[in-house]
Amino acid sequence: RCGIFAYASFLCERDRRYVLDTLLNGLQRMEYRGYDSAGLEVEGDEPGKPLIFKEVGKVQNLKKHCLEAPIDMEKTFLSQTSIAHTRWATHGAPSADNCHPHKSDPLKEFTVVHNGIITNYKELRLVLEKRGYAFHTDTDTEVAAVLAKYLYDSQKGKQITFTALIKSVIMELEGAFAFVFKSIHFPDEVVIARRGSPVLIGVKTEKKLKVDFVDVEFSAPADTEIPEINTTGSSLLVPVAAPAGKLVRSQSRAFLSDDGMPQPIEFFIASDASAIVEHTKRVLYLEDDDIAHIAEGEFHIHRLRRDDGVSAIRAIETLEIELAAIMKGSFDHFMQKEIYEQPESVVNTMRGRVNFDTHAITLGGLKAYLSVIRRCRRMVFVACGTSYHSCLATRSIFEELTEIPVSIELASDFLDRKTPIFRDDVCIFVSQSGETADTILAMRYCLERGALNVGVVNVVGSTISRESHCGIHVNAGPEIGVASTKAYTSQYIALIMMAIQLSEDRISFTARRNAIIDGLHDLPGQIRQILQHDKEFQALAQTTLSKERSLLIMGRGYQHATCLEAALKIKELTYMHSEGILAGELKHGPLALIDESMPVILIMTQDSLYAKTRSALEQVTARKGAPIIIANDTDKSLDAEQHRVIRVPKTIDCLQGLLNIIPLQLLSYHMAVEKGFDVDFPRNLAKSVTVE
Ligand code: F6R
Repeated sequence: RCGIFAYASFLCERDRRYVLDTLLNGLQRMEYRGYDSAGLEVEGDEPGKPLIFKEVGKVQNLKKHCLEAPIDMEKTFLSQTSIAHTRWATHGAPSADNCHPHKSDPLKEFTVVHNGIITNYKELRLVLEKRGYAFHTDTDTEVAAVLAKYLYDSQKGKQITFTALIKSVIMELEGAFAFVFKSIHFPDEVVIARRGSPVLIGVKTEKKLKVDFVDVEFSAPADTEIPEINTTGSSLLVPVAAPAGKLVRSQSRAFLSDDGMPQPIEFFIASDASAIVEHTKRVLYLEDDDIAHIAEGEFHIHRLRRDDGVSAIRAIETLEIELAAIMKGSFDHFMQKEIYEQPESVVNTMRGRVNFDTHAITLGGLKAYLSVIRRCRRMVFVACGTSYHSCLATRSIFEELTEIPVSIELASDFLDRKTPIFRDDVCIFVSQSGETADTILAMRYCLERGALNVGVVNVVGSTISRESHCGIHVNAGPEIGVASTKAYTSQYIALIMMAIQLSEDRISFTARRNAIIDGLHDLPGQIRQILQHDKEFQALAQTTLSKERSLLIMGRGYQHATCLEAALKIKELTYMHSEGILAGELKHGPLALIDESMPVILIMTQDSLYAKTRSALEQVTARKGAPIIIANDTDKSLDAEQHRVIRVPKTIDCLQGLLNIIPLQLLSYHMAVEKGFDVDFPRNLAKSVTVE
């Protein structure tokens, strides 16, 4: 969680107002990653005297603070570097002290913004405190800044580059992180490091760049001693001989323009493309253990360890998202916009993949692996939260169409159990962000055990999309609201398409597959139909549901996933207790909760389990429960006098959950609005959960 942003310019005349606007805007775009406090650092009036601003709460508060500060907004810089951060607390409560950037000392010799967790920060802090270094926050991040100063101090008199210094800092850190470091000792330079947390760098120039790649350089001069802290032994500073490396010239010329001249250049560094796309679409993604250095308009990537076998070339890629796609438009909230986008987003998921005339599905990203997947001994789906629910929602169609055993795993539990995984397993990792730490760790765990890893992700270029063997981009478009909505329906469809494609060699299932593809064809119109009833859902939320303290959502078969997903939406948005219950389990316990005061939503759309779900309705009404029923508009058996009914169009059984979830998304949205909660930024949650 957390979002980091940094801006470095060279030979561009920019005033302080521009720099602040750029930073604050970048933070605002990433606010969904974390939003309990925000901070930034810009150049001061004199060299070596940077200014730091911090504020608890949303970026808006920080903006106000900066704009009201007695600083000269017109002051102009030809070249400058600045860093910024929006935080979601993991270590240390949300407070101005704990907010980034963190500094090594009152003079701000080293400052840093960080996303992720440093797991060994306590040990390092103890060591540094013993050496006389003071700490002022409860965070894990501060140790990185103080460690940089300690290593710098211990190198006094010797020449050390900023990169070599930060490399030795990173060597000491355990955990997952992305950092941007700044230092008054290395003016106009920033060093960016990545291990486990995403970070990408946008490059903006007016003239065309000479070459479109940056190569990796190892640049520790042969005489540099890289110190190493030994936190376990008594001798704390162990100078190690520098690797006998020679200074390799890198492709710094990459950023010269075609005519070979240095040119004005701007770098935008962020955890997320949404903060970069309005400046430039030309980006490069850092890999784990990359240490990137920006100075004087040049950009170099170094590897933490030489000869680690990682390819030395990073291409500059072109981002494919549009700024308009991440703006709220006329909607009150991103979540509302994203619910309303579903008639289009589901089409985008199917675009170019489903041929409705020939009833054929082609998933380009799986093509080369289809025969391997068909031969596997089982499919293991791994995900968290809403993404886990999309796996549950499609499990039964995978089992039916492929006849391969399927297991569905919550990533954290999968890792906790050290689940046995074998070479002939196919593991499918489903994630909107592609950056969820638990899911990534599970993926790496499966990789080590030789399984084929399939990624099903929304964010192109994310860690899961890059590290899996093959996969499907769900193409739902950027999802900003913390509560996942359109990504759920798109994941669901992507998985349905995968099940269909896997079974295309089975003639006996042709009719079933064709019927599902016909169902997919009608979905966008059916979703639109449901959205037209939004006012009714709003009224129900306002008059009844938002006043409740608890809400049970029941269903069975395909609808069990819908119940769990709806209950999760209600919990995270309204902070109210809500539980998804498998109707078949009712008599094994939950029935005890039922009386006239317990609010229940029962999903009773018409599929092969309809009769059984009806008996759940009877069990509930017999105990004076009065459930709100989600039923098909074709179901004439329900008496509107007797029951409150939400009508949805009918589709084929395995797709019905895609329609049933829409009113529930809208109900949870309206309940949260009615309660006055921040729909796009529910308390304690963040969009990308990049820590375990
Ligand atoms: C709920 C929600 C979360 C995410 C979960 C996994 O609305 O958004 O439960 O689904 O954190 O995130 P991804 O899909 O990015 O791996």
